[in-house]
Amino acid sequence: MQKRTFPMHPTSHDLPEQTRQAICGLLQANLADGIDLIYHIKQAHWTMRGPNFIGLHELLDRLHEEVEDKVDLVAERISVLGGQAEGTVDVSASQSRLPKYPLDAVSPDEHILAVSRSIAAYAKNNRAAIDESEEAGDKATADLFTEIVRMADRALWFIEANKPAK
Ligand SMILES: [Fe+2]
Repeated sequence: MQKRTFPMHPTSHDLPEQTRQAICGLLQANLADGIDLIYHIKQAHWTMRGPNFIGLHELLDRLHEEVEDKVDLVAERISVLGGQAEGTVDVSASQSRLPKYPLDAVSPDEHILAVSRSIAAYAKNNRAAIDESEEAGDKATADLFTEIVRMADRALWFIEANKPAK
């Protein structure tokens, strides 16, 4: 559980402020990862060159939109709980727990590997946050993290299925 203290807005929300603050910490960490992931996927979408270009280019755009939708839900959930999201790109870059995206990646193989690593890290962090938010007493946020993990696991499959079968 993230220990950082967030400034909270007054609200009639029934969860105790301490709980909401802890949950906002989990959501903020997820928000930073999600915003970073959006641009990892876009980097691949923009710079990939090679076989099946158009299929991967279009798939990456679809996945980018799915992540962007979840990022919006996460930032809004912080506001719902009385917190204040930190959603700028520079803050997200400093807080993100994802691996750095290789800027020299060009081929589909290189991008598939790099995007897979980023999505897998995003899914792993979200999976941990499901239990942490449930233990903190917020099942609604646990449900949001669960929804995100389902999306991320499916996205990982969609990307990895482009590799030749062994
Ligand atoms: Fe595009």
